[in-house]
Amino acid sequence: MGFCKWFLLAFLCVLAVDDGGLLLLSNGGVTSSFVRNEEKSIDMPFDSDVFRVPSGYNAPQQVHITQGDHVGKAVIVSWVTVDEPGSSTVLYWPQDGTQKDQATGQITTYKYYNYTSGYIHHCTLHNLEFNTKYYYEVGIDHTTRTFWFVTPPAVGPDVAYTFGIIGDLGQTYDSNITLTHYEMNPIKGESVLYVGDLSYADHYPYHDNRRWDSWARFVERSVAYQPWIWTAGNHELDYDPSFGENKPFKPFLHRYHVPFEASRSTEPLWYSIKRASAYIIVLSSYSAYGTYTPQYMWLMEELPKVNRSETPWLIVLMHSPWYNSNTYHYMEGETMRVMFEPWFVQYKVDVVFAGHVHAYERSNRISNVAYNIVNGKCTPVFDQNAPVYITIGDGGNIEGLATIMTEPQPNYSAFREASFGHATMEIKNRTHAYYSWHRNSDGYAVKSDSVVFFNRYWYPKNESAIET
Ligand SMILES: *[C@@H]1O[C@H](CO)[C@@H](O)[C@H](O)[C@H]1NC(C)=O
Ligand SMILES: *[C@@H]1O[C@H](CO)[C@@H](O)[C@H](O)[C@H]1NC(C)=O
Ligand SMILES: *[C@@H]1O[C@H](CO)[C@@H](O)[C@H](O)[C@H]1NC(C)=O
Ligand SMILES: *[C@@H]1O[C@H](CO)[C@@H](O)[C@H](O)[C@H]1NC(C)=O
Ligand SMILES: *[C@@H]1O[C@H](CO)[C@@H](O)[C@H](O)[C@H]1NC(C)=O
Ligand SMILES: *[C@@H]1O[C@H](CO)[C@@H](O)[C@H](O)[C@H]1NC(C)=O
Ligand SMILES: [Fe+2]
Repeated sequence: MGFCKWFLLAFLCVLAVDDGGLLLLSNGGVTSSFVRNEEKSIDMPFDSDVFRVPSGYNAPQQVHITQGDHVGKAVIVSWVTVDEPGSSTVLYWPQDGTQKDQATGQITTYKYYNYTSGYIHHCTLHNLEFNTKYYYEVGIDHTTRTFWFVTPPAVGPDVAYTFGIIGDLGQTYDSNITLTHYEMNPIKGESVLYVGDLSYADHYPYHDNRRWDSWARFVERSVAYQPWIWTAGNHELDYDPSFGENKPFKPFLHRYHVPFEASRSTEPLWYSIKRASAYIIVLSSYSAYGTYTPQYMWLMEELPKVNRSETPWLIVLMHSPWYNSNTYHYMEGETMRVMFEPWFVQYKVDVVFAGHVHAYERSNRISNVAYNIVNGKCTPVFDQNAPVYITIGDGGNIEGLATIMTEPQPNYSAFREASFGHATMEIKNRTHAYYSWHRNSDGYAVKSDSVVFFNRYWYPKNESAIET
């Protein structure tokens, strides 16, 4: 589908596009008026096909992988057994290899109110070859299951690589459509940048943690085969002193391990990885970030380490967006923006992905760093050194869409729409990356919002006149 030349139109007008939807144009950008299904999002019941427990005694379930080191030569494999602890060993072998290697992980469990978790296994496979397909087998000694993954190419400046981006997925029928669209997209994501809010178990009385288990069974069909890079959202907090749960992030931290020590972070809630030509920094909107806090000190030391000759693309993931023109969660990201935005502009971050708001929005390259409380410069200005901010909390969770936007659309907002979907970012080389958002209501191959990102370090040209 050709994207209309909205950038040529300076005045408010309405333009028909060929998918039957409408684009409302103003000098503040595009508010899509695509007509979508406004039905409430409903969680899939426990007996749904997507939550099926694998058969066999002590069969491993909820299998998921993520990057296990700083450069992509290690993978963390995680799974749950329920009948007995069983073995934490993973057997793995390259597609063309005959010899099986093995690694042994660790088991953890936790209690949450009156819920007791299964045996949660985490095992890191080290010293993998780049760009290689590996098979791996879990459940040794009882029911075994075999999966595979492909390691990323070695880190380098012109390495092509495609990320999927998903946020706020939950476990509704809409969540299932989002995941299916990601899987069926002809643009093949090789790993997922996940911007927080996973299971929404906390929507249930006493945060019914069986919904953490069902969510992990639901997404296994993707995350057992390609790494998802985890970011913590507010629904990972699971903090509720009213029934004695005082330790934030307890279920999330037991279930999802990340390679935070590899980037000298002291907490799993903020860390970085390199993957192909990208340097990815994950931040925590729900941990302290004020001056002198561990997250602040870590990021201050982290940003100067990014070598754009090695990893040209600097991407930041966080849950709560800094720029959001939806009325939902309006300005919730403001305090973190105040702390970190000057660094993002100084170090020329290419793109920031956030979730939290259950709608889609893409900003222009803007910054608000000139404002100092007394000078009155409190309006964001266009700034070619600044990131594009993308809100993609539209995975399809139980809370439904956030449909009420601030009007008129502010000029920092380039495109916004309240629909479920996912995005892809195809890095081509050190200068160009093709980005697109795919709404669930369209066919698998349709791009609903597309832009070519020009790298801020290697090719810092104005992107706003690019037609895709
Ligand atoms: C936990 O407590 C809730 C509320 O009292 C109850 O409905 C549920 O059956 C209990 N679950 C277990 C495993 O005891
Ligand atoms: C979820 O989506 C998959 C793939 O499209 C489909 O096979 C399955 O039946 C769906 N399940 C539910 C509960 O919607
Ligand atoms: C940055 O990366 C390039 C390419 O790998 C390398 O040649 C250069 O030495 C690195 N610079 C620093 C400061 O490490
Ligand atoms: C953006 O809008 C603000 C008002 O909200 C205005 O002050 C500013 O001049 C506009 N910037 C541009 C470049 O149009
Ligand atoms: C980078 O990729 C873009 C898009 O595919 C292409 O137009 C450009 O020529 C490439 N640059 C180099 C140096 O190969
Ligand atoms: C970028 O291009 C747009 C549209 O052509 C224009 O309005 C804007 O002023 C340009 N910005 C810069 C910084 O050149
Ligand atoms: Fe959220």
